[in-house]
Amino acid sequence: MGIRGSLVILGLAAFVASGAPARKKAGNAAQGKALFDEQCAVCHDDTGTDKKLGPELKGLFKRAKMADGKPVTRANVRARIHSGGNGMPAFPDLTAGDLDNLLAYLMSISR
Ligand code: HEC
Repeated sequence: MGIRGSLVILGLAAFVASGAPARKKAGNAAQGKALFDEQCAVCHDDTGTDKKLGPELKGLFKRAKMADGKPVTRANVRARIHSGGNGMPAFPDLTAGDLDNLLAYLMSISR
């Protein structure tokens, strides 16, 4: 096989190794809620009733912007959770699947 064929196979192997096709993109809102209660609820309300240290997250996806001025998109919210900042701790150990679940939950309370 030529160099092109080898490159395609290498690329495919990297894709499979990253687990990209196996992981469900939508996430699981119930698991996201469990994770939220465990790691986020101390600082964030998700019901629209309590005032806590961090911003209210009910309705997050209905807002145009986050407190840091960035538009509320799935990618920006993921990055926000992963990196923290401005009084929020970083969560570098959350897996892509954890973030999918959290996103699914946050979207479910934004309807
Ligand atoms: C120790 C308190 C604390 C914890 C724990 C915490 N956060 Fe935060 N979070 C904050 C603060 C404070 C901000 C506001 C930062 C700012 O003003 O930009 C914030 C901002 C955010 C934002 C952006 C909201 C907006 O409107 O700007 C999101 C989304 C978010 N946090 C999600 C989470 C999630 C999900 C978790 C759990 C994995 C979590 N946070 C855990 C304190 C916390």
